[in-house]
Amino acid sequence: MRTQVAIIGAGPAGLLLSHLLAQGGVDSVVLETRSEQYVAARIRAGILEHSSVEVLRSAGLDTRLRAEGDEHRGIYLQWPHERHHLDFVGLTGRSVWVYGQTEVQKDLVAARKAVGQEIHYEVSGTALHDVSSDRPHVTFTDRDGAARRLDAEVIAGCDGSFGPSRAAAPAARTYERVYPYSWLGILADVAPSTDELIYAWHPHGFALHSMRSATVSRLYLQVPTGTDPATWSDERIWDELAVRLGHGQDGWRLTPGPITERSVLPMRSHVRTPMRHGSLFLAGDAAHIVPPTGAKGLNLAIADVALLSRALIARLRDGDPGPAEAYSDTAQRRVWRCTHFSWWMTTMLHTSGEEFDAELQLAQLRWVTSSRAGATGLAENYAGLPIGLDA
Ligand code: FAD
Ligand code: DHB
Repeated sequence: MRTQVAIIGAGPAGLLLSHLLAQGGVDSVVLETRSEQYVAARIRAGILEHSSVEVLRSAGLDTRLRAEGDEHRGIYLQWPHERHHLDFVGLTGRSVWVYGQTEVQKDLVAARKAVGQEIHYEVSGTALHDVSSDRPHVTFTDRDGAARRLDAEVIAGCDGSFGPSRAAAPAARTYERVYPYSWLGILADVAPSTDELIYAWHPHGFALHSMRSATVSRLYLQVPTGTDPATWSDERIWDELAVRLGHGQDGWRLTPGPITERSVLPMRSHVRTPMRHGSLFLAGDAAHIVPPTGAKGLNLAIADVALLSRALIARLRDGDPGPAEAYSDTAQRRVWRCTHFSWWMTTMLHTSGEEFDAELQLAQLRWVTSSRAGATGLAENYAGLPIGLDA
C-alpha cells in the first residue's frame, strides 16, 4: 500500500488530520489498534474551547455540535461559602461548548466514512521504519492476520501517550511533572444541577461539576493517587460531591442519580520536544499530556492538527517545506501556554494538605474572581487563544 501520509491512531487527532488533509487534496491512510466501537465509546474530554469550535466549523464538522452541544458563557469558581461566575464572553468575546469527545469522535468517523477514508481498525504490531529518511514506511498486521506494509511520504504519530510513535522519534528532551493526586470521575444519568461548570476548591480536595447533556452529568473528585474506584460506594461519592460542591449553600442543591461509569485518572504533565523527527510528525497526546483541570487535552490535540495539516499540505501539495520545518517550534508555543495554564489551574484548586498552600490558593481565587485583569487572564486561556496568537 502507498499513501502520502500514514496516520497512526484514529483518535480525534488522527481522524481530524485525515479530514483536513483530504480537504487540502492530500491522501492518507489511518491505522488504529482498537475497534471503531471501542474508540467511539471512550469517555474522556467534554469541553471544546472557542478555537476548537472554529477549526471544526471551518472543516464543516459542526452541524451536530451546533444542534446538540451546549454553548456556555463561562464557569463558576467556588470555595466554601462563595461561588463566583466568570463570564468569558463578557471578558473576551469567546465562549466554550459542552460537547463530549465521544460526539466529536462520532462526527469525525461519519465524515471520513462518507468519503471512503481508508481506516484499518484492530491492527497489531504497528512498527515505524526509516523515519529519518524521506521514504518512511509502517508495517502492521491487519485484523485478518495478514502482514501489511504502508509506504508514505510522511508519518503522522497521532497514537496517544502509549503508541509506538514517541519511541520512534528520539526526543531531544522530555519534561514531566507528576501531580500527587488523581481524579475519580463519574458519569451519571441525572440532569446537571448547574447551568455551567463548577470548579470547587474545598479543604477535602477539589471537585468539578461538569455535564454531557441535559440528562447526563459528569463529576470529578480529587482523590489520592492509587485510589481504587471500587472502594468508593455510589453513596460515598455523592455525599463527598455534595460537601465539596456546597449542597445547601445559598439554597443550591446537588441532585444525585445512577452512576453509569467511573474511573480514576492520574494527573501529570508531559512535554516532549521536538515534535518532529525526519519524516515523522507527532500531534496530540503522542507529544504532550496535560492534567485535565484546564480542559486542554483535546483542544491542544485539535490545535496541533490544525497547524500540522496546513504544514503537510504546503509541503506535499504545494512543494513548500517551510511550515513543516517550523511545525515543532510553532506548536510548542501553544503546548507550553496550555501546560502552564493547566498547571496553574491544577495548583490553584487541588489541596495539598499544607495550610500555607491553602491560604495562597484562596488569595489567588479571591483575586481571580474580583479583579477584571485576573478574571480575563483565566477566561482568555480557558476559552483558548486564537491559533497563531498563542505565543
Ligand atoms: P487519543 O485519543 O489517545 O488517540 C490515540 C489513538 O491511537 C487511540 O485510539 C489509540 O488506540 C491509538 N493507538 C495507540 N497505539 C497504537 C498503535 N500501536 N497503532 C495504531 N493505533 C494506536 N482531556 C480533557 O480535556 N478533559 C478530560 O476530562 C479528559 N479526560 C481524559 C481521560 C482519560 C482516561 C484520558 C486517557 C485522557 C483524557 N483527556 C481529557 C485527554 C484527551 O482525551 C486527550 O488529550 C485526547 O484524546 C487526545 O487525542 P489524541 O487523538 O491525541 O489521542
Ligand atoms: C471536563 C473535564 C475537565 O477536565 C474539565 O476541566 C472540564 C470538564 C469534562 O469531562 O466534562
